[in-house]
Amino acid sequence: MSNDLIEIVLIGIWLTIPAYVANPSAVLFGGGRPMDFEKRLKGERILGDGKTWRGFFGGVFSGILIGVIQIAISSPIDEGHLGFGGYPDFLAVIILLSFGSLMGDVMGSFVKRRLGIKRGQKAPFLDQYDFLIGAWLLLLIFKWQWFFEHFVYWPNTLALITVIILTPFLHKGVNVLGYKMGKKDVPW
Ligand code: CTP
Ligand code: MG
Repeated sequence: MSNDLIEIVLIGIWLTIPAYVANPSAVLFGGGRPMDFEKRLKGERILGDGKTWRGFFGGVFSGILIGVIQIAISSPIDEGHLGFGGYPDFLAVIILLSFGSLMGDVMGSFVKRRLGIKRGQKAPFLDQYDFLIGAWLLLLIFKWQWFFEHFVYWPNTLALITVIILTPFLHKGVNVLGYKMGKKDVPW
């Protein structure tokens, strides 16, 4: 691969880090009130005890924090912050990635409950990709031009493909880590 293509792929990963950090950080903050207030829909919990307000906002906060750190460390190298953009664009991108990540996670649990899959039970594809779908959906809605420039128009499509391929591996790694740290009951 040429240097340009390698750069596109690395920047694609760089531009996904806030979403990658936000989602698993919810585990560290989780606890307290469930987001669905224990309400049910057709007998099944709307979201279940695995989605709490503390986890949600702790995760969003962590994603934004890591994004701000990324902006700080890339500032001296590139005024476009290696793809995040200048102020205030980078703020929007970081917030959408972090918020979207946790929103996707909530949507994932909503779908799991509707399918009758209990809290913590496996749901291949949804478990791995819900946060990424949420993050990319928000970017498509509010920053579609940015998203197309970095992830859709050829050859940046390679960034999209790389992130899609990489995500299940990262998900697996982080969950095994969370399990070993005693933060998660199951390694997925
Ligand atoms: N968590 C939280 N609040 C969130 C997201 C996650 O408190 N908004 C915490 C919960 O303790 C949860 C753990 O992080 O159990 C792992 O998250 P996840 O795997 O998404 O939840 P599950 O418990 O597996 O539930 P579900 O089947 O709904 O995905
Ligand atoms: Mg889970």
